[in-house]
Amino acid sequence: MDRVIVFDTTLRDGEQAAGGVLNFHEKLDIARQLDALGVDVIEAGFPANSATELDAVRSIAQEVRRPAICALTHAHANAVDQAWEAVKKAAHPRIHVFLSASDIHLMYQLKKSRDEILDSAQEMVARAKQYCNDIEFSPMDASRTEPSYLYRILQAVIDAGATTVNIPDTVGYAIPAEFGKLISGICSNVPNISKAVISVHCHNDLGLAVANSLEAVRCGARQVECTINGIGERAGNASLEEIVMAIKTRKDLYDVETAVNARQIYKTSRMVSELTGFLVQPNKAIVGANAFRHQSGIHQDGVIKKAITYEIMDPREIGIPGSSLVLGKLSGKHGFQERLAELGYTLGEDALNRAFQAFKEVAAKKKEVNDRDIESIVAQERHSVAEAYHLDHIEVSCGDHSIPTATVRLIGPDGQALADAALGTGPVDAVYKAINRIVKVPNNLTEFSVKSVTEGIDAIGEVLIRIESDGITYSGRGASTDVIVASAKAYMNALNRLLQSKGRA
Ligand code: KIV
Ligand code: ZN
Repeated sequence: MDRVIVFDTTLRDGEQAAGGVLNFHEKLDIARQLDALGVDVIEAGFPANSATELDAVRSIAQEVRRPAICALTHAHANAVDQAWEAVKKAAHPRIHVFLSASDIHLMYQLKKSRDEILDSAQEMVARAKQYCNDIEFSPMDASRTEPSYLYRILQAVIDAGATTVNIPDTVGYAIPAEFGKLISGICSNVPNISKAVISVHCHNDLGLAVANSLEAVRCGARQVECTINGIGERAGNASLEEIVMAIKTRKDLYDVETAVNARQIYKTSRMVSELTGFLVQPNKAIVGANAFRHQSGIHQDGVIKKAITYEIMDPREIGIPGSSLVLGKLSGKHGFQERLAELGYTLGEDALNRAFQAFKEVAAKKKEVNDRDIESIVAQERHSVAEAYHLDHIEVSCGDHSIPTATVRLIGPDGQALADAALGTGPVDAVYKAINRIVKVPNNLTEFSVKSVTEGIDAIGEVLIRIESDGITYSGRGASTDVIVASAKAYMNALNRLLQSKGRA
């Protein structure tokens, strides 16, 4: 059976999504998890973007050894050199050069002729080839590029050394049958195409990214570019988990396979959602909370009799925790640690102690602590940062006829207790204002969302926020059975991230 190469771009196109912010450690954590997931290529970033990005790509290249580590670059000599600088220590380095190819981009954005573009593409691929053998080239906006010109540019870059040619549907404009025809056309009209792998990179503006990618595979593409949970620029990229599970579930039709270990999908999806702050919609295929929940009585009856009646995939195949073993306030550290291991989490000693402490606090308030509560506790631990300020105490008073008032006490950088109070339009506003009076870092709250982790009135509430300061976005996460406390924790988490990145933690 033919292998389809899974090229994950969560750390590059995924992070490009509006409001996506990952710090250095989070990028490394995700790269390690993508390795466990079994992807073939990790596009770790765009090194010419910033020194921090170059540093993150370099660290991933040094540490994650099994998959190819790819750096994206635009067609500029310095950027190509920086891309190589970032991946040169990888066990399997790849440089990915991109340049716009459609007349729309050439006329209105680059103001260059087709021949000029073709020459630069060839020149930059040749430059990258001097450094490394594994070279990918993307003619950006390929799906809106005149096919005969696309064939010419592909032939030229393959002659210059490209080993993968990627066909991006940059603006998510293509329709499956048409995109498949484009791939078939490339197979039969680019004379040297047998020397390169055809890849596709589909965006989801019309909700067709996965459908287009799958049709391209049927027509000869052997690399798919995708992201976890489908995150990415605008409406996102093709979702990795949907492509992989479609290929697996319908192997009768596609007759290809991937090397992805599907059992790691759920864990990877949770991790990416927690670290990026992009929630997964409940009805999202494969990894959404409702993807395997049956509401109708007829469906429930069928599933009880034989799962295949209404389930085309086994949720355990995707790594969705099957058991709902419940822990409680009498559970000890050992039991907690065992449950973590069963769910696939291993924490270092300090992290384990903190997570156990959080578990005890939840168990004191909630009769039963189930797997989703535990996942939320682990997520909280993962999202933690070095704290310049620690939330020590919070008290609010509010109601329909009172002015919301909050008192907070923080432990500051030198260990001193700092207390203040403020009024607000609501209790969360009052808490944030009181915290601002102490921390004094100007910022704007740009996003605030709260969701309950489990059903029931005693559920843990998870708050995800984003704040912006000097044009940079920071995410924050907090969880508690009290949503005001969760909101305060999320704000402290975001502020500590901001302070850390400004070197003040
Ligand atoms: O969408 C796109 O065209 C891209 C390229 C850089 C491959 O992300
Ligand atoms: Zn893209």
